[in-house]
Amino acid sequence: MADMLLSTGVHDTIPSNYVRPENERPHLDHVIADANIPVVDFGASDKSQIISQIEKACRLYGFFQVVNHGIDAELVKKVLAITLEFFRLPPEEKAKLYSDDPAKKIRLSTSFNVRKETVHNWRDYLRLHCYPLEEFVPDWPSNPSSFKDVFGSYCKQVRQLGFRILGIISLSLGLEEEYLVRVLGEQEQHMAMNYYPKCPEPELTYGLPAHTDPNALTILLQDPHVSGLQVHKDGKWIAVDPKPNAFVINIGDQLQALSNGRYKSVWHRAVVNSNKERMSVASFLCPCNSVLISPPEKLIADGSPAVYRSYTYDEYYKKFWSRNLDQEHCLELFKRDRETCPDAPTFPCPDTPT
Ligand code: OGA
Ligand code: NI
Repeated sequence: MADMLLSTGVHDTIPSNYVRPENERPHLDHVIADANIPVVDFGASDKSQIISQIEKACRLYGFFQVVNHGIDAELVKKVLAITLEFFRLPPEEKAKLYSDDPAKKIRLSTSFNVRKETVHNWRDYLRLHCYPLEEFVPDWPSNPSSFKDVFGSYCKQVRQLGFRILGIISLSLGLEEEYLVRVLGEQEQHMAMNYYPKCPEPELTYGLPAHTDPNALTILLQDPHVSGLQVHKDGKWIAVDPKPNAFVINIGDQLQALSNGRYKSVWHRAVVNSNKERMSVASFLCPCNSVLISPPEKLIADGSPAVYRSYTYDEYYKKFWSRNLDQEHCLELFKRDRETCPDAPTFPCPDTPT
């Protein structure tokens, strides 16, 4: 129901079905201020240094930021401006795009998966399929009028950057540079434009609760002025404050599986605040649906047997969307030892008490 969109209303209090139980709340006072999320300069001339920085970041954080990434700064400004403009469109304009069916390739929705969840999240989002562009752009919104043009160019540049990063990640795993791009097949590209309205009670709810991304690689453009992204490390939440002209990159579940668990798809979440609305634009590179996800021989040699069973991305993605967001790590359900021991304990979401 389109009237669930938060961006069309004014909120003095939060409705009770957005309030988390006491022991699942964000505890914003316990969050570590922005610290040490690695920043990689893609303009640096020493490629071996870039590779080793990325290796370390993927292994220890699952997250890093890139600067001098080659994406046009003017284009990025337009992307952010249009995102805001879009969420400020009149309710009747937005109602036309509303859907809560995760299978739809273009949809404006709210929270995460309103059909499955019991507590909602303080977020609206426009989700678009972006590859191949010619197939999807005709059905993208045409209001704001420059939407298709600007996001079309943006998606192309993001894809290029993503492929470059996958090349470096391949090298950092001791594989040939083309390895990941080759095994991921004809990758789909999805985009989520996230809008987190001002929230009168940010301690009681989330923009996005703790989750891992189900895809291969995520390229996140953050609101340049407002913080909200937090990454889980060593039992604590760390804020990733916006850094000028940087993108935040994170390893998704499929790279964790393909690296045989060496690289981590880590828990992250978005919190909200009472002073300012916040936006972000997440681009997801996703394996081709039919490819089999299975680690390379090289990474299962040396006494480290395959951690996960082989599966197709299609199977994984369906499983992911059939669940609520803040359950156990979805990859846990694909562990090889679950076949022999289905009741083995799994990694719970860090905000859910066990
Ligand atoms: C996501 C995500 C974080 C943010 O869309 O998967 O983690 O800061 N977004 O909006
Ligand atoms: Ni995410």
